[in-house]
Amino acid sequence: MGKKLYFGSNLKMYKGISDTVDYLNKLVSNTKDISRDEIELFIIPSYTTLQSATEKVDREFVRIGAQNMCWEEQGQFTGEISPLMLKELGIDLVMIGHSERRHVFGESDIEENKKVKSALEHGMTALLCIGETAEQKEYGISAEVLRSQLKIGFHDVDPKYADKIWVAYEPVWSIGVNGTPASPEYAAEMHEVIHMALREIFGEAGDKIPALYGGSVNPGNADALIVQPGIDGLFTGRAAWDADKFDALIRSAMESAKKCADKA
Ligand code: PGA
Repeated sequence: MGKKLYFGSNLKMYKGISDTVDYLNKLVSNTKDISRDEIELFIIPSYTTLQSATEKVDREFVRIGAQNMCWEEQGQFTGEISPLMLKELGIDLVMIGHSERRHVFGESDIEENKKVKSALEHGMTALLCIGETAEQKEYGISAEVLRSQLKIGFHDVDPKYADKIWVAYEPVWSIGVNGTPASPEYAAEMHEVIHMALREIFGEAGDKIPALYGGSVNPGNADALIVQPGIDGLFTGRAAWDADKFDALIRSAMESAKKCADKA
């Protein structure tokens, strides 16, 4: 068996409670036969769906995460959700620093660092999203941007937490309806930068951290992306929001990864 592959989706501000529960149950029934030793499947729906989702979906087959979190346990933080509130729902995975949080809502690397630390200290897995803008890419500073997002995002994080850290590389210019997917070669180059930075930050423990690619992943590019060295999984938006299509994408990507491992 090759390395474990990560497949996940952030549902953003789409799908209410019943749509989310139906989607998750369909995804579970479609993918049940795939061994969870081979894949880690996770879905990150909106806050309002979390309670129903955790109660009505078989979480042995899908991990459910939250899209954001405040670093404080409680206090005068109107509109925020705390780690204790997520834990009360049984949520143990939280996405931090998604591109839309950074660029639509103005979150900074320093805030992402506080969230990462709080999530880890509360026993949760932290999925830190990073990625350069089109302008930064144009100036040839993508690697510098990724390195600084990682170095600030994981500042002062003990390497003992490495097995509860995931990274998603999502170039800002590749995300959403107006995005252009990164070429597999470019994504591989940036994943190498990421893995090297993780090694620098955490020492050997950094080698355990999976790095997923996200940004306009679709059935046409998933296979070529997943076989790139350093890409440990696919973090998919739109192309995953139909359970049948996501199931097909996962199976096809797994098949390509297997073929590639057999050849090596
Ligand atoms: P997309 O979204 O696949 O629809 O581009 C990716 C993301 O924002 O995680």
